[in-house]
Amino acid sequence: KVKLIIDTDPGVDDAMAIFYAAAATDIDLLGLTTIFGNVTVEMATRNALRLVEAAGLDVPVAAGEKTPLQLPPFKPSFHVHGDEGFGDIPAVTPKGKAIDEGAVDFLCRMAREHKGELVLCPIGPLTNIAKAIQQDPAFARNVKRIVLMGGSYREGGNITPHAEANIYHDPHAAEVVFASGARVEMVGLDVTHRILCTANDFRDIAAAAPKLGGMLQDMSHFYLAFYKSVGKLDGCSLHDPAAVIACTHPHLFTAENVGITVSCDGDKSGATQTAKDGRAPTAVYTAVEAAAVKGLFLEALARLS
Ligand code: BDR
Ligand code: CA
Repeated sequence: KVKLIIDTDPGVDDAMAIFYAAAATDIDLLGLTTIFGNVTVEMATRNALRLVEAAGLDVPVAAGEKTPLQLPPFKPSFHVHGDEGFGDIPAVTPKGKAIDEGAVDFLCRMAREHKGELVLCPIGPLTNIAKAIQQDPAFARNVKRIVLMGGSYREGGNITPHAEANIYHDPHAAEVVFASGARVEMVGLDVTHRILCTANDFRDIAAAAPKLGGMLQDMSHFYLAFYKSVGKLDGCSLHDPAAVIACTHPHLFTAENVGITVSCDGDKSGATQTAKDGRAPTAVYTAVEAAAVKGLFLEALARLS
């Protein structure tokens, strides 16, 4: 089993990714860490606890950073994920609480305790991961892989013409991660835009697993409406589930190994570009067996019934 921590800003597709991880038989989920992004970090923590409770998971949730490393506090993506993060389904106060240890300390400790085995899957801005790298000089070596949802290689951006949202919200943090020498795998828009989930798929998910699949279907209305409003795509991208699936099924993706650097200002801020300083390569995923990834996602969610 893959020992996994998901760093998340739930978020509709984050919810899909976490439910996938809950259902996957090849994942040992060691915890969730939260980050601002789609919502504030306080809302992300509340939403993560809600998902953990809904899925009956017994995993710690550690609250993360409130603001980017250097950029001023920013506006959450309420227009994409709704005012509370889960489309237009009402917020619910979870029963549980985040652990006392903050996300950065938790990540450093787990990387030490599971040295060489821990896979990190960040599916929000990279601030917690950058801070862990800065805090513990051994962190980048201790983690086995950092399989992140973010960036774009040839695809262009989604939040600006050049930048993908997770990288855009904290480009300085992303730069720290790409320059860290850790084994980084970038599951960016080049692949996630190829994996689409339609309203019909959500209907099937809800039919197969009424409670959790139904919850995803309820969240999906707002998210699908956003995708429709921006044009082109028939359905929504499975951004965050794709990154979790890449943790266990990397063979379903094609990677190009290139050093990546992040533009931190100007109109290209947040763009992931080829580095020229000889830094350690990132495995940039550029193609995907989309039907197989989507099939795994649908099968796993059906098991949540
Ligand atoms: C990423 O940004 C967020 O809106 C999604 O949850 C995903 O992690 C896609 O660009
Ligand atoms: Ca996310």
